[in-house]
Amino acid sequence: AAAPLVDPFGRRITYLRVSVTDRCDLRCVYCMAEDMTFLPKAEVLTLEELDRLCGAFIRLGVEKIRLTGGEPLVRKNVISLVRALGARLGAGGLRELTVTTNGTQLARLADGLRAAGVRRINVSLDTLDPAKFTAITRWGRIEQTLDGIFAARAAGLAVKINAVALKGVNEDEFDRMIAWCGEHGFDLCLIETMPLGEISGDRTEQYLPLSLVRARLRQRWTLEETDYRTGGPARYYVVRETGRRIGFITPLTHNFCESCNRVRLTCTGTLYMCLGQEDAADLRRPLRDPGTDEAGLEAAIREAIARKPRGHDFVIDRRHRRPALARHMSVTGG
Ligand code: GTP
Ligand code: 5AD
Ligand code: SF4
Repeated sequence: AAAPLVDPFGRRITYLRVSVTDRCDLRCVYCMAEDMTFLPKAEVLTLEELDRLCGAFIRLGVEKIRLTGGEPLVRKNVISLVRALGARLGAGGLRELTVTTNGTQLARLADGLRAAGVRRINVSLDTLDPAKFTAITRWGRIEQTLDGIFAARAAGLAVKINAVALKGVNEDEFDRMIAWCGEHGFDLCLIETMPLGEISGDRTEQYLPLSLVRARLRQRWTLEETDYRTGGPARYYVVRETGRRIGFITPLTHNFCESCNRVRLTCTGTLYMCLGQEDAADLRRPLRDPGTDEAGLEAAIREAIARKPRGHDFVIDRRHRRPALARHMSVTGG
């Protein structure tokens, strides 16, 4: 087998996040501006091309692939890519294939995901309040996402709810969300807002440090340490009262870059080595060059990993109101 991918800081790269489209049917206010310019279709790789790139990463030791967006499930025919990748699951190759979604298409697609080999999905749901949900997503209907979540559960998929913690927006709901997740059998993950891309509001006003939230939650819930790991950035606790896990993703209050194991491929074939840096490699050019064989593609990936930066340097405070990066989260799928 090929030598594993190791970056300049000795970190093994085993997790590939693949943004299959930059488009989304919602416009969460912390994620996108209302009026976004999306990529012209001609720039976007075909599903076959994305699968071929994923195959090269798997040969180089990637064990986990997560499809993201934008909203991955609005990409036409995305299930055919999920099936192709599902066929790559198995000993010595891909160990986990999963999706991060806003849930709007799950009622239609959950069974197909499960049949293709997906076992676990993450669904973004920042609030349980219908009016607030519409305000955050600009036009979403919470029923559609909830229907999707329950369809996923019925299809046999484990569901983790992702909520971005926003001061003055959903901070009063975490107790209710913990209880709701406990009742329905979902894990929950809270996320600190990250300064990517211009949005209409001011992120510094909405930033809520999760160290504070965790301390508050401990007054009401018993959070038990666990060494449960997914290969993602969250640190988990078991909520004793519900038996479900709660995770905290804390790029601002507790940087986790030293154990980074992941890189991000966009739908145009750009590889971003870090969510918080501009460093990127164009894999579309070698991919579409008829002179590139599989070894050439692997070499291009190795060359990119050799340039992976140490980590992000996100700061959110009054003196740093400008986004750290112009690129929106929806380009890389987070
Ligand atoms: P699991 O496999 O369940 O651990 O998923 P995950 O947390 O890896 O993926 P998900 O798509 O649910 O991401 C949750 C949040 O974590 C998103 O807001 C991502 O942007 C963020 N995230 C994932 N990886 C990184 C990272 O390397 N750095 C930073 N700063 N944030 C990340
Ligand atoms: N900061 C933190 N999380 C974000 N997400 C989108 N934009 C941001 C941001 N600026 C979240 C979504 C989704 C995940 C992929 O990233 O809510 O759950
Ligand atoms: Fe769409 Fe997800 Fe961004 Fe919301 S957070 S606008 S659902 S990509």
